Amino acid sequence: MNLILLVASLVAYAGSCVSASALKPRANQATPTTFKLYAYGPNITNGLRFFYGDGQAYIGSSAPPSVTQAVNITLTSTDSDTTFLVNADSATTNWTSQPMMYIDTTTNAFEPVGFTTSNTTLSEGEVTEGFGLYGGWAFHLNDAGTVDMNFYASPTEENDVYLVKWNAASTKATDGISIALRTEAPMVIT
Ligand SMILES: *[C@@H]1O[C@H](CO)[C@@H](O)[C@H](O)[C@H]1NC(C)=O
Ligand SMILES: *[C@@H]1O[C@H](CO)[C@@H](O)[C@H](O)[C@H]1NC(C)=O
Ligand SMILES: *[C@@H]1O[C@H](CO)[C@@H](O)[C@H](O)[C@H]1NC(C)=O
Ligand SMILES: *[C@@H]1O[C@H](CO)[C@@H](O)[C@H](O)[C@H]1NC(C)=O
Repeated sequence: MNLILLVASLVAYAGSCVSASALKPRANQATPTTFKLYAYGPNITNGLRFFYGDGQAYIGSSAPPSVTQAVNITLTSTDSDTTFLVNADSATTNWTSQPMMYIDTTTNAFEPVGFTTSNTTLSEGEVTEGFGLYGGWAFHLNDAGTVDMNFYASPTEENDVYLVKWNAASTKATDGISIALRTEAPMVIT
């Protein structure tokens, strides 16, 4: 992994929404890593929970009514494997095997982040590999070796619940809110 590129990208990203001091490299992270993800971005409640809804990724405290199967999840990743594997927090799923997170990396695609139990059924450009965490920030490392953090929150019919999308274009998406997916849970305000 190109560390210099990674740091540069993180700092560039961090400059737009949080201070760089919040970024603490965790290079010697133990394997496997088990974590939950929370979303941070402008105009959304801090730390909305990342969850599974009918094979797609959502953030929010509840599922929109249109989703029939909503499941809170914990992800697993190892240093040797760049897939994000899904573990259901509840025991009641009908999954035949552990789903993996995937994104559509086709040029200019702006598609929902999904989960699949079989990556052989994915279309060209949809990938389950290349995911990682850097200082607790979820990223995707593309074939060209560039670290991307192009997650977006797209509004649903439910207030403060969003569908999570991946922007594969080199320009900012005009639809939706640019978000960071982080392992850090929101601070509880008492
Ligand atoms: C946040 O909300 C304000 C007020 O509605 C709006 O002007 C601004 O463009 C929004 N920012 C983003 C990044 O969506
Ligand atoms: C699992 O259950 C959901 C409804 O909760 C249903 O939509 C889906 O088709 C089921 N999947 C399988 C593989 O049975
Ligand atoms: C996820 O967990 C939270 C907190 O325990 C709960 O309020 C919410 O309903 C759960 N969501 C799903 C989809 O199970
Ligand atoms: C498909 O998933 C397997 C793990 O089940 C992984 O080893 C492989 O690299 C994945 N392939 C792609 C193209 O993402």
